[in-house]
Amino acid sequence: MIEMAKHTVLFVDDEESILKSLVRLFRKSGLTVLTAQGGAEALSVLEKKEHSISLIVSDQKMPGMNGAAFLEKARVICPDAMRFLLTGYSEMDAIVAAVNKGEIHRYLTKPWNDDDLMLQVRWGLEQYDLVLENRNLLALTRKQNRQLYDFGRDMERKIEERAKEITEKNKALEYLNKELELNFFNTVRALATLTEMHSPFNKGHGKRVSELAVAMGRKMELAEEEITQIEIAAILHDIGTLGLSGDLTEKHWNRRSSKEEEELYRRHPVEGQSILAFINRLDDVGGIIRHHHERYDGKGYPDGLFERDIPLGSRILAVADTYDRMTTAYRFRKGDNTRDKIFADLSTMTEYESEEDRIRQAVIIFVKKNVFTEFDPDVVKVFLDVLNDRGITVVRERQMTISELKPGLVLTRPIYSLKGRFILPHKTELTERIIDKLSVIVANHEVSDVFYILVK
Ligand SMILES: [Fe+2]
Repeated sequence: MIEMAKHTVLFVDDEESILKSLVRLFRKSGLTVLTAQGGAEALSVLEKKEHSISLIVSDQKMPGMNGAAFLEKARVICPDAMRFLLTGYSEMDAIVAAVNKGEIHRYLTKPWNDDDLMLQVRWGLEQYDLVLENRNLLALTRKQNRQLYDFGRDMERKIEERAKEITEKNKALEYLNKELELNFFNTVRALATLTEMHSPFNKGHGKRVSELAVAMGRKMELAEEEITQIEIAAILHDIGTLGLSGDLTEKHWNRRSSKEEEELYRRHPVEGQSILAFINRLDDVGGIIRHHHERYDGKGYPDGLFERDIPLGSRILAVADTYDRMTTAYRFRKGDNTRDKIFADLSTMTEYESEEDRIRQAVIIFVKKNVFTEFDPDVVKVFLDVLNDRGITVVRERQMTISELKPGLVLTRPIYSLKGRFILPHKTELTERIIDKLSVIVANHEVSDVFYILVK
């Protein structure tokens, strides 16, 4: 519903009587009605700008300045006001030109019908309201857009500043973390050096065990974090010996310790865990160290844990530790009972190129023999795979009795008679004839009924 009271209309006509009748017509409408007798007077009303004029209705035929010419000028002064032309049919050409040039919005014919004129005026005022409203909305949108743009730019700047701040803080944190990490590994290294200084015969043991244990962890596709724990546990696994006298550790390694001394030595996994308890990040590492002397059959120490109750890291460590300890120490420890027992099995094997290779194979056989008792079979399998990757091939052999032998099988060890007489070299491929001959001498108890056959 249009609000008439807020609008002002200007009627322009050279005839006073017409102006009067128009004023009369709109008296009750609520509009403010202005009149001017001719174009010049009307222009001076507009120029004064005392009123905000919504609609100008002008007669066309006036002396001095016709309606179209006046409205053209009025458009410059009040571009927003609606412009109507009042005219007779005879001036149709002038009207068409004025409409086309956009100078007027509507034309009304003379004489007019009151109701029709009222309706047209209403329409004109509605249009005026719409135009203004539209312009206000446009202005508001522009203003809001500008505010949004400013806000966006402000936000962008703030985000940029914040990002810069975060990057700088991150850099500082990264540096700090690196420092901490470095300090942490320096601590681990210092502890490892301390352990080695305490047991010089043990030099490089921790490092080698950790390399082997890490390779096994990777083969098992363990998480990096777990591998790091195993690595550190391997480097520090004997740190608990720091609490023992160096002499006692050395005695243990050379199997010269008494029962009491051995009891004392067996405390080192627990001691190791308690030393690391002071370092927060080494909690899990401490657990792995505590159990590195557990056995798969539950006969180990300190807790006698069984099978998978033993932490995986400890099970890996047990194999890596044993392999390194035996391969390095046994090289220098001839005359040792255990060493001799292990090598007894291999004394007849001649296929090894060097003493080192022979020791390695002896230790590997020892580890394989102790699967399910001392070591986890799955871990040993991975251990053998890792050795294989390192070019250390493991001879796979199995024991057979004479009744199991078949042509085509290959001996991994030479055959000697019970009296020590050489009968057949290793790598011999068995034939029907050889098996027949062996059957005779086995029946005569000249050789033992155990043959070592290559598993392909
Ligand atoms: Fe140990």
